[in-house]
Amino acid sequence: MNKNSIAVIFDMDGVIFDSERTYIECMVEVADKYGLENMEEVAYKCIGLNENATKQILIDAYGKDFDYKKYRLESSAIFHEKYDGGRLPVKPGVKDVFESLKKLNIPLALASSTKKESVVKELSDAGFIDYFDYLVCGDMVEKSKPEPDIFLKACELLGSAPDNTFIIEDSYNGIRAAHAAKAHPVMVPDIIRADQEMEMCSEFIASNLYEALSYICSRLDDIKNRPDDQEVVVKNEEKVNALQILSKIEKVVAESGKIILKADRSNNVITSKEGHANFVTKYDKKVQEVLENKLLDILPKARFVGEEGEHNEEKGSGFEFIVDPIDGTTNFIKDYHVSAISVGLVKDGKPYIGVVYNPYLKEMFTAITGIGAWCNGRNIHVSDNELENGIVLFGTSPYYEELNKKSFDTAFSYFKRSLDIRRSGSAALDLCSIAAGRAELYFELILQPWDYAAGALIVTEAGGKVTTFEGGEVTYNKPCSILATNSIAE
Ligand code: IPD
Ligand code: CA
Ligand code: CA
Repeated sequence: MNKNSIAVIFDMDGVIFDSERTYIECMVEVADKYGLENMEEVAYKCIGLNENATKQILIDAYGKDFDYKKYRLESSAIFHEKYDGGRLPVKPGVKDVFESLKKLNIPLALASSTKKESVVKELSDAGFIDYFDYLVCGDMVEKSKPEPDIFLKACELLGSAPDNTFIIEDSYNGIRAAHAAKAHPVMVPDIIRADQEMEMCSEFIASNLYEALSYICSRLDDIKNRPDDQEVVVKNEEKVNALQILSKIEKVVAESGKIILKADRSNNVITSKEGHANFVTKYDKKVQEVLENKLLDILPKARFVGEEGEHNEEKGSGFEFIVDPIDGTTNFIKDYHVSAISVGLVKDGKPYIGVVYNPYLKEMFTAITGIGAWCNGRNIHVSDNELENGIVLFGTSPYYEELNKKSFDTAFSYFKRSLDIRRSGSAALDLCSIAAGRAELYFELILQPWDYAAGALIVTEAGGKVTTFEGGEVTYNKPCSILATNSIAE
């Protein structure tokens, strides 16, 4: 294979944008309004199809009198209202992957069943349009995927033979079309997992775009001989690793969340610790024990610091898990349903991965340094409100009575300058609320590293800012105060 003639074609929805989920949400919203049942199931069948094919599926499901035009107009109005102007969630790694392929001088095309007007708008709003040498859209070809036409046209424009072209797709019909075009189909499944047919039709199934890029790089002859390319490969491999570690941590944390949900508070589970109203339950200990065992299975050489164990202020190199098995223990004791498991992974003293899981709402907040922050797999971003239009969260540092007055005086002064204040009882979840754009500023005058090791990274990766209350650097080996904002409110 001559590497200079290699090209890559991307599908858009479900590969570049996390848009399939958002389209389905909007379709279901309209269906609920008109009492149409099973729309979610029907909408799944439309993934990867053009307008005509989608219309046919809806008419087959809801009868020939179904007013497709009206229905589509309404759901598309909801979609535009929610996501226009660059607010469409982007899949992890998109920009890095485009940059890497450009650095390798590989021409790129986009082949999407969506019509050109929307493709151009969505790519432009996200700042991605200039990465593509060619766009081939649903209204530019007659036959929709799974027919190969759209990809064959893209190959023709790119001047690359299908057998020199990688096609990155998430949908079944997209992979079928890429296979039929006799190109190299690389599947990155989005909502629907790959089945046996997909395994047969795809040359490679990746769990994310970095992995897809790695695979493509591994297929380029003599790539490792060019220093520039080597840099791309190494950087990229590290990100693949980080995403794999994150997905393993998420599984362990979700599993441990079940211990919190199934807890039996009826008999003697509480013990007091040092400080005012500082409790520990047998569940804090149980969750920590499970986390310690399972997290160290993922990274056996890592150090483990958990709230319910021994601590020192030693600064180590390499990986270190910093864990709060239940952040919000008082809430947990009261069955108040605002508690979380917080797992921070620090590398050489700097935050690397953060996972905060609220088992009651089944919300999994995650972040990887330099890659992004997500809630249940979808990108999150801090809000752009000023303090006067913001909500301020604060922690009372309950175990340090000497800080009570300053905490409440500070909260009072923020209260006067904002919409209102809140005190949730979980520092980790407060930080995630800032990251998700649900509140604008959070402060607490003293916290332990396990309260913020995960949440602080989630905030910064979501575009926010985290410092000590005085504006200094946050420490991960000893307690400090925390001020987290959307980078605007102050
Ligand atoms: C506490 C919670 C609380 C914060 C305290 C923390 P714990 O953690 O995060 O919101 O105000 O400072 O210690 O004791 O429930 O794990
Ligand atoms: Ca805590
Ligand atoms: Ca705790």
